[in-house]
Amino acid sequence: MSLRLQINLLIASLIAIFIGVLFAFQIKDTRNSVREEIEAGNRVATQLLSNFVLVYADTSRPMLVDFLIHLGRVRSTDITLRDQQGSVVYSSPPPVYKAGRDAPAWYTALVAPQPMQQRFDTFDGVLEVDANPSRAILDGWDDAVRLLQFGVLAMVLGNLLVFALIWRATRPFSVIAGGLDELQRGAYHTRLPAFVGSEAGAIGSAFNRMAQTIEENLNARQQAIEAELRLQQNRELADIVQTRIEDERGEIARELHDETGQSVTAIKSLALSLTRREQGCDESAKQTAQLIVDTASGLYAAMHDMIPRLRPLTLDSLGLTDAVGERVDEWRRLNPQIEFKLQLGDLPEPLGTTVTLAVYRILQEAITNALRHAQAQRIEISLRAESNVLRLDIDDDGRGLPADWQRPGHYGLRGMADRARVLGGEVTVANRTGGGVRVSASIPLQ
Ligand SMILES: Nc1ncnc2c1ncn2[C@@H]1O[C@H](COP(=O)(O)OP(=O)(O)OP(=O)(O)O)[C@@H](O)[C@H]1O
Ligand SMILES: [Mg+2]
Repeated sequence: MSLRLQINLLIASLIAIFIGVLFAFQIKDTRNSVREEIEAGNRVATQLLSNFVLVYADTSRPMLVDFLIHLGRVRSTDITLRDQQGSVVYSSPPPVYKAGRDAPAWYTALVAPQPMQQRFDTFDGVLEVDANPSRAILDGWDDAVRLLQFGVLAMVLGNLLVFALIWRATRPFSVIAGGLDELQRGAYHTRLPAFVGSEAGAIGSAFNRMAQTIEENLNARQQAIEAELRLQQNRELADIVQTRIEDERGEIARELHDETGQSVTAIKSLALSLTRREQGCDESAKQTAQLIVDTASGLYAAMHDMIPRLRPLTLDSLGLTDAVGERVDEWRRLNPQIEFKLQLGDLPEPLGTTVTLAVYRILQEAITNALRHAQAQRIEISLRAESNVLRLDIDDDGRGLPADWQRPGHYGLRGMADRARVLGGEVTVANRTGGGVRVSASIPLQ
């Protein structure tokens, strides 16, 4: 049932109750006034007729009848004269007031007083005086009808007025419901017009604010999804580039070791044989040959230093722990002023090239940073496997991270984090409480 119909029914019921109460009071008042009028009329008629009967009625019936004919109708009273046999000798005329009409029987039953009759004996019969409240009741009924007519009119007009007011007040609701339907269908750009009326106006502006917020949130979410997608694509691209670089570095390292290394060794051997030749080689040629030997040795040593930086060949052949041990030895040799401490736990084998390389590169960058930025005297490295997670901690006792350590244009720490993230792990970098920096990497082991 619509709100409008409900309110109309309520108003109609209230008016009906009001009219019902008024009707009940009207019936009560009419009953009282009818009784009063009947009693008064009856009393007057009784008084008058009793006196007259006392004076004349004992002597002559015609005189009495003549008197009654002249008296005519007394309001609210029926006068009847009967002879000794009970036959009607005289009956007062019917009322002319509102003649021909009577109140309905049910209304009469509601307001009529107790019947009242006075009887006077005459010399040859009886005079009956009966109270007749029909006119007074008809007056009351006419008032009641007017009241009911007024009530019906009030009900019709009141309902029409309320109907119009509610129609005006609830007209925006269908527009609001339409707007909500549009939102549900996904048309988040839907906005409502400004409504007349404070409630509808407030709902309309609240709707518009809500739609605006939803639209902005959805746009922001869409942008975030797109950005996340782009980031994901960038990471995948970076991963591919990284893998290519690693492959290429490995290829170069092997090439240097196997091809160039062999060639340099061959050159060195040839030059060495020249320096040892007894005939056909003068002193200056021997000196040149010795120079070639020294240069080849230098070249070989430089090449050997370069290979582990490019890609430690031991990674492929011996595994992560050996490669790390070899690399740390190398750092010890190159940085004798710094104390390196290495703790290696048991690692599950095989770790796989990706994990091995990631850990190796993270270690390499962390130590390079400590050597470049920390001015440390002691560097501790711990590599172990803990409940299916590979953990690598590098602690130094240097001067700690500067305030702007995350400034743009520096890629080492970011690269470490990226390498770990690709494998589902993470890298944290933080100052230690006792001074220096701790780099912690954790990579889940499948
Ligand atoms: N162990 C450390 N002790 C002190 N400061 C450090 C340490 N490691 C990193 N930092 C600070 O963090 C900054 C960022 O390091 P990050 O490795 O990202 O870049 P970088 O080493 O400066 O340059 P690159 O891009 O070549 O690695 C460094 O510039 C340095 O200021
Ligand atoms: Mg760096």
